[in-house]
Amino acid sequence: MIATPSLQPTAYYEQSTFDSELVEVFENNWIFAGFVEQLANDNDFITLTIGKTPVVVQNFKGQLSALLNVCSHRRAQLQTGPQGNRSMRCPYHCWSYKQDGALAGVPQNNTDFGLTQEDKRALSLRRFELELCGNFIFVRVCKNKPTLRAFLGPYFPILQELSTSFCDSVGKGSYEWHTNWKIACETVLEVYHVASVHPETFAKFAKAECEIQFFNGHSTGNTPLQDAPKKWWQGARKHLKIEQNQNYTEYNHFFIYPNLAIGLTNGTLMSLQTYEPIDATRSRLNFDLKMVPRVDGKETSEAVKSAIMANFNEFNHTILEEDRLIAESCQKNMLSVNTPGLLGKCEDRILHFQNAWKRDVSQNTNQINEDN
Ligand code: FES
Ligand SMILES: [Fe+2]
Repeated sequence: MIATPSLQPTAYYEQSTFDSELVEVFENNWIFAGFVEQLANDNDFITLTIGKTPVVVQNFKGQLSALLNVCSHRRAQLQTGPQGNRSMRCPYHCWSYKQDGALAGVPQNNTDFGLTQEDKRALSLRRFELELCGNFIFVRVCKNKPTLRAFLGPYFPILQELSTSFCDSVGKGSYEWHTNWKIACETVLEVYHVASVHPETFAKFAKAECEIQFFNGHSTGNTPLQDAPKKWWQGARKHLKIEQNQNYTEYNHFFIYPNLAIGLTNGTLMSLQTYEPIDATRSRLNFDLKMVPRVDGKETSEAVKSAIMANFNEFNHTILEEDRLIAESCQKNMLSVNTPGLLGKCEDRILHFQNAWKRDVSQNTNQINEDN
């Protein structure tokens, strides 16, 4: 047999596995948090949950810092909403914090708290590792692990280039899927399903062949485009006065373990997706669509952008819905079986993803055994 077993069905719904992967997979690895341009101004912030940890990434007078998004006083959430602009001051009783997480201000400290400098230091917010790859922001909750450059390996220069080349934001959104986050990731890691699940969409867009490359749990899948979408994008580029990125002219897809996927269409459009766990059987798929900028440095009018993007957004939405339906059916059926499914050679990117996941999760199990 050429095929290899997939993960045990329990890996997709068991609470204990989910609890363990939140820490061992999400808190131990570099996680994509957002784009530098979202934090261009003083006090701009973005929030996200990494594993079990609420995180805020904020611009403090030009310096970016990733801090625990939980007040040390009585644990209110410091910044709310996915992004905004607001100083780092708790909305409950106005305790405020500095860039390194240090407690800066406590109303009525002298009369009611009597916190010394040392007491205040002990109440600092936890600060997390933050590194940039071009304009992409990555955060890691756990300390003392490889640098972002070492973690990404050959993908570091690739992502660095993509982050600066595809920088004109044209749309974003999110969907909730009733699947474990791993099933959601697995839907983008093979083209084996394209002819049957996407006969009217992706199958007409790209060919059912894929050249793949790996580095640890990360991988690349390059799929040649059909002629019709190439022509369509050529026309769109002329209209929008933008130039193709010559390094990626087909459908070039990158997966950065554990939960970032980047699809490039004809060197023109980037769809960046993250798969966020909500609970053991639900996940949120977030996507950002970005295009190469205009060559003349001018802004493309919103009307022109929307006309072009309406077409692509509808296409994107249909494909994602096709994937969601089939992924949710797999998720539901995991409860009825007790043996792993199979991965063919054409599903090798899934195998690499799962192997990286198994390494992370079993390190934890070994650690628990050693501790006992
Ligand atoms: S909970 Fe934050 S200041 Fe009280
Ligand atoms: Fe798909």
